[in-house]
Amino acid sequence: MSKASISLQSGDITLDLSFADESHVIYGEKKEFYIDVNHDNPFLLSTFGSLDYRDPMVLITDENGYASRRFLVKKVEDEENDCKGLPLSFGHNRSVCITYIDDLNEIEIKQFIKTFDESAFSFSLKITNIGKKASFIKRAYSMEYGLEGKGYDIYSFPGHWGRERNIQKTNLETGEFINQSICGICSSFANPLIVVGKGSSFYGFNILYSGNHKESVSVSYVGNTKVMIGMNDFLLDWKLSPSESFFTPEVIMTKGNNIDEIQQRLSSFVRKHIMKKRDIRPIVYNTWEGSGYDIGEAKWKNLAKLASEVGCEVFLFDDGWFLNRNSDTTSLGDFVLDEAKIGGDFEHINEYLNNLDLKLGLWIEPEMISPVSLLAKSHPEFILRRKEVEPIQSRNQLLLDLANHKCVEYVKNMIVSLIEKSKCSYIKWDFNRLLTDIESESCRGGEYFHRFILGYYEIISSIRDMYPDLYIEGCASGGARFDLGTLRYVDCIWTSDNTSPRSRLLIQEGTSIGYPLCSISNHYSASPNVTTHEEYPCKTRAEVAFFGVYGVEVDLSKISLEETEYIAKTISFYKKHRQMIGDGTFHIIGDPMNRVSRCWLLQKDDESLLLTSNEDGHKTIPYRLPYFDAKAKYILEYWDGRTVDIKGSDLINGLALPNGKGLKTQMVYIRRIKE
Ligand code: GLA
Repeated sequence: MSKASISLQSGDITLDLSFADESHVIYGEKKEFYIDVNHDNPFLLSTFGSLDYRDPMVLITDENGYASRRFLVKKVEDEENDCKGLPLSFGHNRSVCITYIDDLNEIEIKQFIKTFDESAFSFSLKITNIGKKASFIKRAYSMEYGLEGKGYDIYSFPGHWGRERNIQKTNLETGEFINQSICGICSSFANPLIVVGKGSSFYGFNILYSGNHKESVSVSYVGNTKVMIGMNDFLLDWKLSPSESFFTPEVIMTKGNNIDEIQQRLSSFVRKHIMKKRDIRPIVYNTWEGSGYDIGEAKWKNLAKLASEVGCEVFLFDDGWFLNRNSDTTSLGDFVLDEAKIGGDFEHINEYLNNLDLKLGLWIEPEMISPVSLLAKSHPEFILRRKEVEPIQSRNQLLLDLANHKCVEYVKNMIVSLIEKSKCSYIKWDFNRLLTDIESESCRGGEYFHRFILGYYEIISSIRDMYPDLYIEGCASGGARFDLGTLRYVDCIWTSDNTSPRSRLLIQEGTSIGYPLCSISNHYSASPNVTTHEEYPCKTRAEVAFFGVYGVEVDLSKISLEETEYIAKTISFYKKHRQMIGDGTFHIIGDPMNRVSRCWLLQKDDESLLLTSNEDGHKTIPYRLPYFDAKAKYILEYWDGRTVDIKGSDLINGLALPNGKGLKTQMVYIRRIKE
């Protein structure tokens, strides 16, 4: 191939690729920005075996462990990625494919770059063994991207149970920043979303993958920055036999002037190119926080009546509806209705719920098994475990071996038969422990993590395809599987088991940087909060939960009539505005690193929803709201029924922050008055 260059366009961002010599593709807006052309170029795909000693993106060894290979660009043309088994974005404009072949003629790498109307690109690889001997993939990230200079701020979203995706900012002058998961799922410890930026150059990255991921940002010895993103290479040792192919997950990249623009672009991209379109996101009543396993006939029937009265649309039996499941010690794997406890069969339940204008929802945790279960007796070989030792239990449960095709088929059939039998229209799909004791007859150890995730995708994508109208809510001990791979197949994700407004402000805000509000599931819950024991007024609990997909989780039989009426009011408000909440543009006003006061603005056409919050004695100067039209007139509607006319220019100057003891919130609905 002779020297050439192409320019790819997505929205208002451009990717210039320049095939400077046969072995590398260089890119960047200013191609000459690097000092040392040989050693510090922004390559599109780096491997080991050249004079570039930065950490490479792809490492493939031969049978003896040698990794030196030089990949030469052979052709560049438009071609679709024929990847099967991994979630892919849809609705792109072009799919450009750069084909590389190594100097021994053994490995072909196809690098796919998709362009979109939105300002985003996606990157993925297909690696094929075109030789006669086996090769071993030790690392295969999906993309690398070079940034000029150093000193970038990296926004990442770490956490743990009950404190998912709290935004963190790290400045990188030297060395390497790693954000990763090695526990088998994307985890609440390190969400795969990262934003890297300084000045007016910001980049947002995320991956369509639910397993171990790794995001590395490193500064080279010359002083430039390189970002690499993909499936984690931890323990990876994938045998690629002759004529076999390996696909890497798709990575999304966007660029903008600041973190606000990155947030807009990522969430609009996810809504349009990853998530299934839904006209209505139903309001669910979920039994878990209020009732736990105590959902016998009298209890659930009463709750359903109350849920219907306040305006819920789905009644979801969370954990505890199936045989012998009265604690977390038994029965995962045996998803058969406990008719004695629930007081009838599915037909009876549906009849009761339908009379109340409610649809049936069911909680399942299909990738798990309780050691005390019928499934453990009938299919002990499905349990993920080492042969010689007792597996570690977590929450009294074990994992199913999703690298085993027979097990995957079994789980799929089990879910299908449950959906058919129950006629449910909503499923909450949970996953409550992390991987340990990894050993399987189905594959080599270095392939396990990825094959486990391929098993998960096989199950969930089949259910999605078979039941397109089924509404699926993802969940994993709260929000430990909040990722784009899962969002390709589910309709929203339970954000966190921690429903305390103070914690949720931080959790939901961090989540919203990379995920649209229509993916963020929030429920009105009890006070004192069951997790933090903090007390909050009804207003605060509802106002924070509105910014996402709203539902109810409080035990409706234990609250006052006044609170019940208040909940009904919140539901009718939400129903009126849910389209706007789902599709609107969400802005975090001010510095997201500020932990004490915040300001959220959601806008669609002429309507806005504004939430301000403040902790005791902190900043009372209003946030400026530049997203209004200075010349227009608006009407503000408060919860207490008060309405106030206001000029756009006054709104731009901001509304006073709430103040008082503890955490205070104030939400207001704002409508532009038509001239
Ligand atoms: C997890 C979920 C909860 C609930 C319980 C049920 O913890 O996050 O919402 O479904 O499991 O056991």
